[in-house]
Amino acid sequence: MGRVNEKVILVTGAARGMGAAHARLLVSEGARVVVTDILDEDGEALASELGNAAIYVHQDVSEPKSWAMAVAAAESKFGALQGLVNNAGVASMAPIEQFSLDQWNRTLAVNLTGVFLGIRAALPAIRRAGGGSIVNVSSIEGLRGSPGLHAYVASKFGVRGVTKSAALECAASGVRVNSVHPGLVATTMTERLDPALFPIPLGRAAQPIEVSQAIAFLLSDESSYMTGAEIVLDGGLTIGVPHQHAAPEHMFS
Ligand SMILES: NC(=O)c1ccc[n+]([C@@H]2O[C@H](COP(=O)([O-])OP(=O)(O)OC[C@H]3O[C@@H](n4cnc5c(N)ncnc54)[C@H](O)[C@@H]3O)[C@@H](O)[C@H]2O)c1
Repeated sequence: MGRVNEKVILVTGAARGMGAAHARLLVSEGARVVVTDILDEDGEALASELGNAAIYVHQDVSEPKSWAMAVAAAESKFGALQGLVNNAGVASMAPIEQFSLDQWNRTLAVNLTGVFLGIRAALPAIRRAGGGSIVNVSSIEGLRGSPGLHAYVASKFGVRGVTKSAALECAASGVRVNSVHPGLVATTMTERLDPALFPIPLGRAAQPIEVSQAIAFLLSDESSYMTGAEIVLDGGLTIGVPHQHAAPEHMFS
């Protein structure tokens, strides 16, 4: 028995990066997965790698109509929908005086409006299935500021907030809503960043699968008493200054 056996789960932005790792782990844990993305070639390739347990659906999460189609595809192919991972996201960086309105609007449309549209579209189906779990991918940038990442930070704080308002509203109908807050994870989004430049107490970036494990937990019945909660997966990055920086060895002698 897998941890999410027989559950049908829709994962957005799943053609590559963390979303693809989530889809692979969920299938290995017994789920059937609807992989959605705008990168059709990668998405189709992942779905065919996963065989009968997965389908690929083209979806731009900022488009309301795409949500109706993706949820309908889950129900028509697999008969129900019990889980949603709002994973799709984009980031762009500029000093605030040069941050364009287009950059701002696009980031908010994908990262925050996409999550709202996803919760709104998936809820009736998850309720029809008798309840389930929604996981929203925020970031440590939903917990603290970061220079240059203005729209990203705003969107990820927003994801954290809508997670809690939705959790309150959905609890009575058996739908749990939680957020995850990864730190630096080795994907295309961060390929230009050097992990050595970040004061990460565990001393490295995360691999996508390390986030997938927490997502599988939140989708599974193992987390049956968790809703509106935040899981931080950042190697300790937000808890304080790492020992080797704050307290060099000579201070202990
Ligand atoms: N990589 C990190 O260090 C990190 C840290 C914290 C949070 N996150 C978040 O994790 C999530 C996954 O990021 P990743 O690192 O795997 O990045 P990634 O760039 O590898 O993957 C993001 C995926 O989202 C898809 N996507 C982009 N716009 C979309 C849209 N409009 N509709 C549907 N899909 C769209 C992309 O095509 C891509 O497949 C994002 O929400 C990101 O903000 C990433």
